[in-house]
Amino acid sequence: MSKKGFGILGAGMISGIHADALRKSRKAELVAVCDVNEQNAKKLAEKFAPSATVYTSFDEMLKDGRVEVVDIITPNHMHTEFVLKAAAAKKHVLCEKPPAMSLKETDRMIKACKDASVKFGIFVQCRIREPMRHIKAALEQKRFGKILRVDAVMKWFRAADYYKMDAWRSNRKCGAGVTIQHAFHYIDLLQYLMGPASGVVAEMHNLAHPEIKIEDTLDARITFANGVRGFVQASTAIWPGNDVQIEIYGTDGSAIMCGTAFKLWKFKEEKPEDEKIRASGNAAQATASSDPSALPSEDHQYVIDDCVDAIESGRELCIPCSSVKASLEIALAMYKSDKIKDEVSIPFNENDIWD
Ligand SMILES: NC(=O)c1ccc[n+]([C@@H]2O[C@H](COP(=O)([O-])OP(=O)(O)OC[C@H]3O[C@@H](n4cnc5c(N)ncnc54)[C@H](O)[C@@H]3O)[C@@H](O)[C@H]2O)c1
Repeated sequence: MSKKGFGILGAGMISGIHADALRKSRKAELVAVCDVNEQNAKKLAEKFAPSATVYTSFDEMLKDGRVEVVDIITPNHMHTEFVLKAAAAKKHVLCEKPPAMSLKETDRMIKACKDASVKFGIFVQCRIREPMRHIKAALEQKRFGKILRVDAVMKWFRAADYYKMDAWRSNRKCGAGVTIQHAFHYIDLLQYLMGPASGVVAEMHNLAHPEIKIEDTLDARITFANGVRGFVQASTAIWPGNDVQIEIYGTDGSAIMCGTAFKLWKFKEEKPEDEKIRASGNAAQATASSDPSALPSEDHQYVIDDCVDAIESGRELCIPCSSVKASLEIALAMYKSDKIKDEVSIPFNENDIWD
């Protein structure tokens, strides 16, 4: 079977993870790289796929017949424009998180891809981590009993340089801020485990980055539609930065995923496989807690390979955009809650969030 041709749009900081995943994949191949900054595109192609064609115009890359899937890695506020163009050109789309800056845009993208009969997935790759897969399976088997609490604790560090690197990183309308940019993955994990939310209350602060006018810290409580409450503490102000913890507590068992490994995996009714599960993951794996580009490429590769399999077989993706929309809704409701200084019920009016 020949490899599916991928075209990367946006050859910036995180693009090396995608290009590395494509280089390692036996199912996909990087055939084109596009960036308005030609140097960025050339550098990425030279390092990871010297035979890939370099473009500075997305429209030109879309005309390239070898590009069957577009991998969108541009700043957050640009995702919608490019996803819509890719769908119009009948290209399958994988896009970085968050899908967009509004639910309306997200609906438009989902509809456009559906109408064009192309796949549309989002890189919320933490869902793929081995401990997370075990947590999801144990939830489905009801091993935790009645769920009492689910928490996400992200105490990361980003130096001032990170925010000064590119203008969009400190502009809320471009999708900057710890909530939508960094904590998005972990808000997504709570939603992935618990389902949609019915209400959110959030407070945002800037604790340690006077150079920016956006939040570097989030304290939030999510009430899920199933009645469970989840708390999110997220920050890029806490030096030196620690691995994220996803915590799930039930009447019959509890689990804590720390980074990509388990810190706790305990059930009143132990099963023979629990010892092996407890040791799964990799505690030494860097997960961007202090260095934004220190991420494994394996999870991205999983999403890419899954996309190829889904195209070949006609099945749904492992992470379709439609499954991430509820996470965006929670993140947006957090901004609304901080703005109106009150709890926000979901669904809510998202119109004036960024004003
Ligand atoms: N999944 C993850 O773990 C993860 C981690 C970090 C970043 N991200 C996401 O990846 C995306 C990119 O982040 P980044 O840190 O690499 O950003 P970046 O600013 O470093 O890179 C963006 C690139 O897009 C290019 N670009 C901008 N406008 C363009 C246009 N009109 N046409 C073509 N290219 C254009 C820029 O020149 C730049 O090279 C964001 O959506 C971010 O949220 C995801």
